[in-house]
Amino acid sequence: MNDMTPTREQREAKLEGMGCKRKRVEDIRFTQGKGNYVDDVKLPGMLHGDFVRSPHAHARVKSINSEEALKVPGVLAVITAETLKTVNLAWMPTLAGDVQMVLADGKVLFQGQEVAFVVATDRYAADDGINKVVVEYEPLPALIDPFKAMDPDAPVLREDLAGKTSGAHGPRRHHNHIFEWTVGDKDLTDAAFRKAEVTIKEMISYHRTHPSPLETCQCVCSFDKIKGELTIWGTFQAPHVIRTVVALIAKIPEHKIHVISPDIGGGFGNKVGAYPGYICAAVASIVTGKPVKWVEDRIENLTATSFARDYHMTAEIASTKDGKVTGLRVHVLADHGAFDACADPSKWPAGFFNIVTGSYDFPVAHLSVDGIYTNKAPGGVAYRCSFRVTEAAYCIERAMDILAQKLGMDPAELRLKNFVRPEQFPYHSALGWEYDSGDYHTAMRKMMETVDYAGLRKEQAAQRAAFKRGETREIMGLGVSFFTEIVGAGPSKNCDILGIAMFDSCEIRLHPTGAGIARVGTKSQGQGHETTWAQIIASEIGIPADDIMVEEGNTDTAPYGLGTYGSRSTPVAGAAIAMAARKIKAKAQMIAAYKLEVHEDDLEWDIDGFRVKGLPEKTLSMKDICWAAYNSVPPGMEPGLEAVSYYDPPNMTYPFGAYICVMNIDVDTGVYKIRRFYALDDCGTRINPMIIEGQVHGGLTEAFAIAMGQEIRYDPEGNVVTGSFMDFFMPTAVETPHWETDFTVTPSPHHPIGAKGVGESPNVGGVPAFSNAVNDAFSFLGSTHIQMPHDYWRNWRTAKELGVFAA
Ligand code: CDP
Repeated sequence: MNDMTPTREQREAKLEGMGCKRKRVEDIRFTQGKGNYVDDVKLPGMLHGDFVRSPHAHARVKSINSEEALKVPGVLAVITAETLKTVNLAWMPTLAGDVQMVLADGKVLFQGQEVAFVVATDRYAADDGINKVVVEYEPLPALIDPFKAMDPDAPVLREDLAGKTSGAHGPRRHHNHIFEWTVGDKDLTDAAFRKAEVTIKEMISYHRTHPSPLETCQCVCSFDKIKGELTIWGTFQAPHVIRTVVALIAKIPEHKIHVISPDIGGGFGNKVGAYPGYICAAVASIVTGKPVKWVEDRIENLTATSFARDYHMTAEIASTKDGKVTGLRVHVLADHGAFDACADPSKWPAGFFNIVTGSYDFPVAHLSVDGIYTNKAPGGVAYRCSFRVTEAAYCIERAMDILAQKLGMDPAELRLKNFVRPEQFPYHSALGWEYDSGDYHTAMRKMMETVDYAGLRKEQAAQRAAFKRGETREIMGLGVSFFTEIVGAGPSKNCDILGIAMFDSCEIRLHPTGAGIARVGTKSQGQGHETTWAQIIASEIGIPADDIMVEEGNTDTAPYGLGTYGSRSTPVAGAAIAMAARKIKAKAQMIAAYKLEVHEDDLEWDIDGFRVKGLPEKTLSMKDICWAAYNSVPPGMEPGLEAVSYYDPPNMTYPFGAYICVMNIDVDTGVYKIRRFYALDDCGTRINPMIIEGQVHGGLTEAFAIAMGQEIRYDPEGNVVTGSFMDFFMPTAVETPHWETDFTVTPSPHHPIGAKGVGESPNVGGVPAFSNAVNDAFSFLGSTHIQMPHDYWRNWRTAKELGVFAA
C-alpha cells in the first residue's frame, strides 16, 4: 500500500452511506429558490380554475346562475354538478369506500364545500367570475356536535344514503352513522373490569386540526385531444394511486395518464387523497382542450381539504391496587365530517387505532369505534401519523397518567411497571398487532437519568408547597410520554388501497462509469429521500451516495409504489431499495468472479468492491464492475447492471420513544413556559442521524402547535372560526421551544437494514408529553383531565375553574 492508497476509513467515509450525517442534496436547489413546484409549472395557453364555495354548513341548493359570471372578461366556463353529470363525474369514490360530491349536487354539507368551478384566462378573472355566480340556498339545521349526531331527531345529512342500512364497513345504526368497528375480546375485558381493584374512566378528546403544509394542494391538468393522453402535475404524496384513481373514475386508459409530482412543499397527509379540484381541472382541460391550473389558497386549504383527528375517546383502565394493568376498554366517537374520506388502508376504517394498548402489557382489551357524519369538511388524514396512531397514543398516554393520579403513583414508575418486557418480543398485543422489537425500559431509564427525573419531581414538590404558601403564582408540570408507533403500511396480508397491496418499489440502474439512478415509488415532501435513499445504496453496493441520483414522483419512470405518508417510506421503500441493491450486488459478484478468475464463493465483500478471500490484493471495485457489466460479462449473462424490487413487508415496524416536557404555567395569565423538552427516539438502524434530528424537530414543533393551540373550530352554525393563520396557531421560531434529542437503537428484525420509520414519531409522542405536562401541573389543584388545546386562555380558565383565585 503506497501513501496514496486510501485507508479503509477513507473508503468508507467517501461512500457517505448509512449512519453518515450527509448534508441534504435537495437543499442545494431549495435554499437557492430553484425548487420546481406545481405553481412553477406554466404551460402555453394555460387556464386557471377556482371554486365558488358554500357559505353555509348545511343548505339546499335551489339554483345556480352563471349568466353574469360568463360576462366577466376572461371567464370561459362555469362548471357545476349538472355539467359533471354529463360525464358521470358529479360524485367521486373516496378511499374509505364512501362517495363524495365533486360539486354540490342538490345540497351543501359543509362550509367551504365546492359548488361551482369557474375557468378563466387568469386567476384574477376566475376570482371575479366567482363573485358573479349567483347561488340560491335554503339553509338547513347544521349538525356540528358529534355527540348529537345519532340523536333520533338529528338532521339527515346524507340524503343519497337514504334507506342504506350498511356501508363499506358493515351495518349502519342511524342515518348519520357510517360504521362501527370493534376489535378485541369484549367478554374477557368486561370480566377484567368486574374483578378490578381500581378502575379509571375518562372522555379524552383529540380535537380537529389540520396539516396545513406550507404549499397548499394544487394541480395542472393538460389533456392532449390528439393522443387522448392526460398529464397531471400535482402535489401528490402518492402519484401512482392518483393515476389509478383517475383511470378508474375518468375511464381514461391508465397508460395514457401521466402523473408527475414535482417538488412538494410539505404534505403531512394533506396530499394523499383526491380532491374536487383535481377532477374539475381535469374535466376543464378535457372540455377546453387547454391546460388548466388549480391552486388552493390558505383559507380553502384550512377549511375544505382534509382535516385531521376529531376523535372523542372514552378510555377505561382496570388495574390492581399496586398499579398492574389488567384491562383496557375504549370507545371512540369519530367525527368524519360530511363524507367518509379518511385516507386509511381499505380494511381499517379507524386506521391502526387498535395500537391503543400502547407500550403496555394489557392482558385483555376491547375497542369500538363509531364513525359518524357531521356538517364539517371531510378528511381524517394521517397528519404526520400512521392512520390514527396519534389519537391512540394520546388516548393511552393520558389514560395512564390519570390512572397514576388515582393510584397516587409516579407516572414514570407506572409505565415502567407495565411496559412490554424485552423478552416478550415479538409481542402479540391484545388488540391484534405483533410488535417486532423494543427495549422500552432502557429508553425510559435513559430519559429519566438524562433529565434527572427524580430531581425534577423534588423541585415540583417544593414549587407546589411554595404555591400553597402563596409565595409563587406559577405551577410546574412534568409531562411524561412513552409511545409505541406502528409504521410501514404495509403487508399485503392486511393493507391495501383500492385493492392494491401496499408494497413499495425501487429500480436501480448503474451506468458504465460507476454512477447510477434509483427510481423509487415514494415521494418526498421534505423528508430528504434524495439524500437518504442514496445512502442505503452506497452502503449496500459501495458506490458513493454522491454518484447515485434518486428520482421519485413520475409515474412514467418510477416503478409502481404506494407513496409517502405515515412514515411508511423507510420501512417499505427503504427495504425495496436495499433488496434491489442486493440483486445488483449478486450480479456484480458473478461478474467479479469471472474477471478475477475465481469461484464466486471465493469472493468477499469489502466496503466498495469484492476481494478474493485470503488474497487481499486481488480486488475489483464496484466502479470497475460497472464498466465490466457493459463489455465483459460472463458467457451467457445479459449485459448491464440494473435491478428492480417490489417489497411486500412481512410486518409493520414499531418505533418507540420516551419524551418529557417540563413546563411552568402562570395561573393568573395562563401563560406557559416550556422549560425543557427532551425526546428520545428509537427508530432502529439510523440511516442519516442529521435528517432524523430534523424530522424530530419538525414533528415536535407540530406537536407543540397541536397541543398548545392549533385547532379547526366551528361555531354552532358550522362556520369555521379558525380558517386562517390569524386564528389557526402556527408557531414561529419565537414560540417554539428548544428541543433536546437522543436515541437508542433497537433494529427491526424483519427489515433488511433493520430500520423503522421516524417521521411521525415526534408528533405521536410529543402531543401527549405537552398535554400531560399541563395536566400534571394542574393535578395537585384537583383536576383530572383538561381537554386540549392548552392555549393561554384555556389555562387561565382552568385555573379559574379550580378556584385558584382568592375571592
Ligand atoms: O415516509 P416518510 O419519508 O415520511 O418517513 P420516514 O420513513 O420516517 O423517513 C423520513 C426521513 O428520515 C427519510 O429521509 C428517511 O430516510 C430518514 N430516516 C432515517 O434516516 N433513518 C431511519 N431509521 C428512519 C428514517
